Amino acid sequence: MKKSMLIWTLALTMIAFMAVPSAMAGEVEVLHWWTSGGEAKSVAVLKDLLEKEGHTWKDFAVAGGGGDTAMTVLRSRAVAGNPPTAAQVKGPQIQQWGDEGVLADLGRVAKAEKWDDIIPGVVANVMKYRGQYVAVPVNVHRINWMWVNPEVFKKAGAKVPTTWAELEEAAKKIQAAGMIPIAFGGQDWQEATVFESIVIGVGGADFYRKALVQADPGALGSPTMVKAFERFKNLKQYTDKNAPGRDWNLATAMVIKGEAGMQFMGDWAKGEFTAAGKVPGVDYLALPMPDTDKYFLFNVDSFIFFKQKAVAAGQAAEAMARLILQPRFQEVFNINKGSIPVRLGMPKDNFDAPAQRSMDDFVATAKSGGLVPSMAHEMAVYPEVRGAIFDVVTNFYNSDMSAADAAKRLASEVAAAK
Ligand code: GAL
Repeated sequence: MKKSMLIWTLALTMIAFMAVPSAMAGEVEVLHWWTSGGEAKSVAVLKDLLEKEGHTWKDFAVAGGGGDTAMTVLRSRAVAGNPPTAAQVKGPQIQQWGDEGVLADLGRVAKAEKWDDIIPGVVANVMKYRGQYVAVPVNVHRINWMWVNPEVFKKAGAKVPTTWAELEEAAKKIQAAGMIPIAFGGQDWQEATVFESIVIGVGGADFYRKALVQADPGALGSPTMVKAFERFKNLKQYTDKNAPGRDWNLATAMVIKGEAGMQFMGDWAKGEFTAAGKVPGVDYLALPMPDTDKYFLFNVDSFIFFKQKAVAAGQAAEAMARLILQPRFQEVFNINKGSIPVRLGMPKDNFDAPAQRSMDDFVATAKSGGLVPSMAHEMAVYPEVRGAIFDVVTNFYNSDMSAADAAKRLASEVAAAK
């Protein structure tokens, strides 16, 4: 074949490929609440991967840790008949959106990618509506962590606590040395995050399940719950006066900068340390919240997809769902986010020590019964019950209500919301 003909043949073949693309490029509008430094870095990984496949990412970020504002915005867009392509929605709420009949069926991509083999069974059940995948899980976060600045402890001559008594002792020393013991963000979801970790520390996993998963009035109003409320209120004296309303990542920044000794927060806080270039075991310590090392309060982020009229939009959405569970995304995203992969069988080597510990504890607590869903992060109860718990917890923390009254109110308000 002559050289000029060869070039022509190659050129024509290329044009033919370009004219019949295997997938149509589409746009996905993605609602999420990942706006802090570490979170934004994490979600950018998904955007990049999707754009590499030729699709367009339209960012629909609604700030507000814990996602309650994002959920309000999502509902109003859906009511107006104009939902985004995908939205960060978790736990039992997935079933509620399923009942609305608005979710896209992810069965085709789930089958092709063998999701049933790579997603843990307990998580897969939450992602399915009437037996069909309608959501894709992203990660596993652990709630009951304590983030420590070792320099602050050293300056105060305090020991890093593993029990509640040690925690109070350390907090007193840090305060006496003129520093803030606990970096706290006074927002209802952050209060509930700390509170539920205290509940499991005081009552254990079975009590936690009865109270905050089954919403059993007997457990909610019990002396054990009174003790949990007492411990929770007791922390307040070790926080600073600017705590009310503070965002969680600003509280993390106080620990990073050495303004405060510790923070109790899920491991998205680790994403902030990572984004600031801090090294675990050197610049900061990550340990289970005192009294909770046997427990793993889990929180799985996931995305739902709304039914699409345009074929291209449907294909872009499917591409996003597929990419989320691929090993490359699972690794890079979770390293940035502070969480661990939800995909089974991922190698641990590239993860840091706190993540490796989390991976081991996830498996160990699944066997021991210490693995329980987070109420505060929408894994355990329907939004109405969660809302009732949040109301009592925040009213108690921000008033002079007694712990006994709080437990009584918790039992009655949850019963009314059920
Ligand atoms: C959680 C969510 C995490 C993290 C956190 C703070 O509910 O699961 O991914 O974003 O809120 O916004």
